[in-house]
Amino acid sequence: MSRVKRLLLWSLAILTLGLIVLVATGCALYAAARTSTVGELEFENRLAIPRLLQAREEAGRKVFDLTLRRGSTALVPGEPAETWGANGDYLGPTLRASRGDDVTIRVHNTVGEATTIHWHGMHLPAIADGGPHQPIEPDATWKPSWEIDQPAATLWYHPHLHEQTADHVYRGIAGLFIIDDAATGRLALPNEYGVDDIPLVIQDKRLHDDGSLDYSQGWISPTGRLGDTILVNGTYDPYVDVRHSRVRFRLLNASNARIYSIGFADDRPFELIGTDGGLLERPQRLDRVQLSPGERAEIVARFAPGEKVVLRSFEPDLDTNFFENRFAGGDDSFDLLQIRAARTLAPSPPIPERLAAPMPVNEDHVAGTRRFELNGNSINGRRLDLRRIDQVVVAGTTELWEVHNDSGTPHSFHPHGVSFRIVEYAGGPAPPHLRGLKDTVYVPPGNSVRLVVRFGENSNPDRPYMFHCHVLQHEDRGMMGQFVVAPG
Ligand code: C2O
Ligand code: CU
Repeated sequence: MSRVKRLLLWSLAILTLGLIVLVATGCALYAAARTSTVGELEFENRLAIPRLLQAREEAGRKVFDLTLRRGSTALVPGEPAETWGANGDYLGPTLRASRGDDVTIRVHNTVGEATTIHWHGMHLPAIADGGPHQPIEPDATWKPSWEIDQPAATLWYHPHLHEQTADHVYRGIAGLFIIDDAATGRLALPNEYGVDDIPLVIQDKRLHDDGSLDYSQGWISPTGRLGDTILVNGTYDPYVDVRHSRVRFRLLNASNARIYSIGFADDRPFELIGTDGGLLERPQRLDRVQLSPGERAEIVARFAPGEKVVLRSFEPDLDTNFFENRFAGGDDSFDLLQIRAARTLAPSPPIPERLAAPMPVNEDHVAGTRRFELNGNSINGRRLDLRRIDQVVVAGTTELWEVHNDSGTPHSFHPHGVSFRIVEYAGGPAPPHLRGLKDTVYVPPGNSVRLVVRFGENSNPDRPYMFHCHVLQHEDRGMMGQFVVAPG
């Protein structure tokens, strides 16, 4: 054999070997990337219910005190992790106020570094919004005030410091902010907090063997940190006892990147009664509700005396390609919570046929259309620059916002300070679970969503609000822009 021929054969052999190794690792990674805890939990721990924070009355205002602090929490039993929380070691209390209330929140930061608290879904002046423009320095207290001026809804709060949101949320600062209003208060809906009206803050974590939080981003995941340990209200492997025949659950996806498709293990239907921005006009009977990070849903489920039912996250429909789907968690499933119904259940009235007042969407009164292209950690080809205002809108107007996901990667869209209605979703009408008031929406790869956004009267040409992808790693990498609301 000539030398040249031998060399050729050798290179061919090495190349083939390399290819085999590559394919084998690819297959192994692909196989390993699928996670499921279905059937594996024991439901040993009683679900924690975030406590309701009592407000102080001060000169006609409701004043809430939140202290951000460091703590230590056994996220899984017996293995303490360093965590952050508000008024506690992990997560934060539930704030509650009614439409028309004047509120002040005193946020005292003792975590030893700057952070912020953003009121996700709240209609409020930009200066009180708590985005990257309102950092709270160590040991400082930030005191935003505003008037609650929106329908009853399940909102939430979380840090939003520039380039640090993913870590600060992952460490554990997040909580609910429930808004009430008079009309909703008159409806026959389960409303005893923690009893037949139960908040469920759902998060995934990746933990080291010693129980500490793993901060690595997951180098192969297109959306960042995905964990295989699920916490509900900070409780691992949880169960909850219920004493009523109907129970309302306020679901919040407070995860960094994971998308859940939530339903019951026995596929029983439930009534979806509310989405991000408030109650639906009518309940929708469903057996799954999908939530991307930041989204909320209020559901009411029925239980029979003495039964045990598991709330589960099924494989979500990410509507993307084979690989992105697997590595973004599209093939993952989890048991979330076991519900244990008492032997005798207090009867609950049926869910009212009508919930919120009709909310016609009138596209004729749209003042203009804007387009947002999501791609490669940027929006319209630009990453966040805090000195640049990307959009100027006018107070009191309604606009059509078209958001297109140009990439193969899962993204979402969330504008601050407003709620919107979805008038078109991936080429069709909005699916039932996306027909109510929303502030965050999943935008499937290669698809568009069209949103009718109504801007309120809070205006200030110098104080921007943010719009961004709510996959926290994407947001931190600059997949975010700024808009101001100019006076009308
Ligand atoms: Cu949940 Cu810009 O935030
Ligand atoms: Cu994204």
